[in-house]
Amino acid sequence: MTAASRTVRVPAKVNVQLAVGPPRADGFHDLANVFLAVALYDEVTATEAGELSVGCTGPGSELVPTGEENLAVRAALLLARHHGRDPAVRLDIVKDIPVAGGMAGGSADAAGALLACDQLWGTRTPHEELLAICAELGSDVPFSLIGGAALGEGRGERLTRLPVSGTFHWVFALADGGLSTPAVYQECDRLRADAEVPAPLPDPALLKALAAGDPLALAPTLANDLQPAALSLRPALAETLKAGVAAGALAGLVSGSGPSCAFLAADAEAAAAVADALAGSAHCRTARATTGPVPGATTIDSHA
Ligand code: C5P
Repeated sequence: MTAASRTVRVPAKVNVQLAVGPPRADGFHDLANVFLAVALYDEVTATEAGELSVGCTGPGSELVPTGEENLAVRAALLLARHHGRDPAVRLDIVKDIPVAGGMAGGSADAAGALLACDQLWGTRTPHEELLAICAELGSDVPFSLIGGAALGEGRGERLTRLPVSGTFHWVFALADGGLSTPAVYQECDRLRADAEVPAPLPDPALLKALAAGDPLALAPTLANDLQPAALSLRPALAETLKAGVAAGALAGLVSGSGPSCAFLAADAEAAAAVADALAGSAHCRTARATTGPVPGATTIDSHA
């Protein structure tokens, strides 16, 4: 007999605006974080098992921890504790989102594991409780659950959905190796040590361009306060950004804490051309054309 399982597919994200405030007493930073979910996906399958374990396949999966520091494992443990039940489950992650790429891959796996376990276990956790567990797992995890487009405030976990018209076309230049998110935030603080850092606010022009579905209006508003820090730690990314724009992108920016770079294209054709040019260049490991917004964590398969 086949063991019961549930599979959930979870998108990557790009931060179209990431405004970072001064460091808080708890070590986090207040953000105005405009998230857009894009159609690059990890899949998480939860299968009935006698004990809690995790496996991971796909590019970069050797970099993903398989102990209790794995975010999918932590998600299963938190959900089990929330319901006072045994956390025994087998989690299998198929990665397509770059590992440590600034595209919320770990957060996607956490949100996927949470939803897959909730369905497998029949615990029927109310949405607000799932979001609270997500926030405990990481600042970006609530967004991985809901997807679409949203403004994240606080440390990024307090979400307000944003209206978006149509579909935006993106290209991601994927780098070899990752960047550590805490290291990038630390470098950001170091670079701004003598500056007066304002409270982070969303840019009204950017929100208007998203709502209008207008890539030409969105391009000049793309902004990431972590970009100088990512470039300081990985200077070669400046060349990647130039190469994407030279290949026809409307604009480019470092995705989240990097090192993936995101490029906005006018349409699908332009995106394909930018992806081809970047993939054939020395500026990145590979390049992927994709679109957003797309829905968040979604069940794709089930066996009873
Ligand atoms: O919340 P998450 O585990 O994704 O955060 C990873 C690290 O990124 C934190 O430990 C912190 O160093 C940094 N961070 C931050 N401010 C935020 C979100 C993350 O400083 N709003």
